[in-house]
Amino acid sequence: MTIRESKAIPDGAAKLSYKGKDYDLPAYAGTEGPNVLDIRKLYSDADVFTYDPGFTSTGSCESQITFIDGDKGVLLYRGYPIDQLAAHSNFVEVCYLLLYGALPSKTEMEAFDRTVTLHTMVHEQLATFYRGFRRDAHPMAVMCGVVGALSAFYHDSTDINDPRQREIASHRLIAKIPTIAAMAYKYHVGQPFVYPLNHLGYTENFMRMCFAVPAEEYKINPVLAKALDTIFILHADHEQNASTSTVRLAGSSGANPFACIAAGIACLWGPAHGGANEAALKMLEEIGTVDRIPEFVARAKDKNDPFRLMGFGHRVYKNYDPRAKAMEIQCHAVLDELGMKDEPLLKVAMELEHIALHDDYFIEKKLYPNIDFYSGITLRALGFPTSMFTALFALARTVGWIAQWKEMLEDPHQKIGRPRQLYTGAKTRDYVPLTRR
Ligand code: SDX
Repeated sequence: MTIRESKAIPDGAAKLSYKGKDYDLPAYAGTEGPNVLDIRKLYSDADVFTYDPGFTSTGSCESQITFIDGDKGVLLYRGYPIDQLAAHSNFVEVCYLLLYGALPSKTEMEAFDRTVTLHTMVHEQLATFYRGFRRDAHPMAVMCGVVGALSAFYHDSTDINDPRQREIASHRLIAKIPTIAAMAYKYHVGQPFVYPLNHLGYTENFMRMCFAVPAEEYKINPVLAKALDTIFILHADHEQNASTSTVRLAGSSGANPFACIAAGIACLWGPAHGGANEAALKMLEEIGTVDRIPEFVARAKDKNDPFRLMGFGHRVYKNYDPRAKAMEIQCHAVLDELGMKDEPLLKVAMELEHIALHDDYFIEKKLYPNIDFYSGITLRALGFPTSMFTALFALARTVGWIAQWKEMLEDPHQKIGRPRQLYTGAKTRDYVPLTRR
């Protein structure tokens, strides 16, 4: 049942009294989660805005893709719990699920996998875009630029009102983002680009495009490839987070889908969002040893110190981020496979988690490790430099972004996003010529 079809909840409406007048705000119930109060007519009826910077209490849209219960630590992709998908599915299957809303049959899966495989190469001209960057450019800066540049290449699939062209653009983005991310890495380390190989799986192909060198055969480690594939599943979508909201807002104007995804990459880069995996590893390296943890925990609690424990806290999860638990499992699997069980940073991370989870400040503020806490250690062990961590997050989140973009364009209620404001600036005043100032 969706708001598109559902009726207001009988006697669920809220009554708002404002300046001596009463207003009914219809309430709607979804299949999971809190009800919503419909305030769409509030401004025209009562000449008043609601005020919610950061959107802590605002539903920006209706969606059927992902659901989070922050208190119970639940994350569902199209109704399937993330821990089950992490244990039994693979990233390409999850891409199909997020895009189309159901698990694929064998035939559907084979067709989708083949379609994605046949779109993994990028236009050869795109390679020249990389050469304009300095070698030490941050991979996220390169990803922003190159994904945005894709909008200059595919004029045959940008009529966003044509469902088939929306689907082709979705397939192209899911297929090409690993190639683009791998090229960003290769350019960063000064090695030649590696082309995709169609007989390899999605994540194996990505690892080979990152780590293969012309001088020798690249041997895929199936344990590591599986771990990275699972990490991609964990990062694939997450309701209306900052970068997804950015993609939706950009898409609401009818912008080119590739440009919308570039906007999402830009937003994800921030250390409060996807950039936290890079920041969390740097924090663990700065802490260095277990005996220095109390000093950093004290700083995180100090109101006068802007320092925060990176990889901790979440706007929605006020209990354990279920992805953090699954991420920790992958972290141990990778370190075990690589014989790195004694990785010092893992000891620091586990001790920091233990201390924080028993500290009144973190308990009271409901701050738990989030997905970014263990991902950095794992990705570094897989061979990626810290600067690539958020690019890997962007690679995985591209399917979530494009599924949400597609859903928004198919929503009959969708219109261009245009929030209002509480204006506290200068009142109207007359211009004063320079000679009189
Ligand atoms: C992601 O939205 C998503 O779904 C995002 C994401 C996704 O998959 O798309 O899950 C991915 O971005 C995960 C979050 C990664 N970011 C970090 O790990 C950075 C560190 N965390 C924080 O900056 C913070 O917790 C946020 C940004 C994640 C959430 O911020 P909120 O919800 O706006 O909470 P807040 O900043 O209002 O903090 C509430 C209180 C504050 O104290 P008071 O002002 O109430 O006294 O908790 C404190 C904060 O100071 N606090 C922290 C803290 N996070 C919040 N104190 C110390 N360390 C922290 N990490």
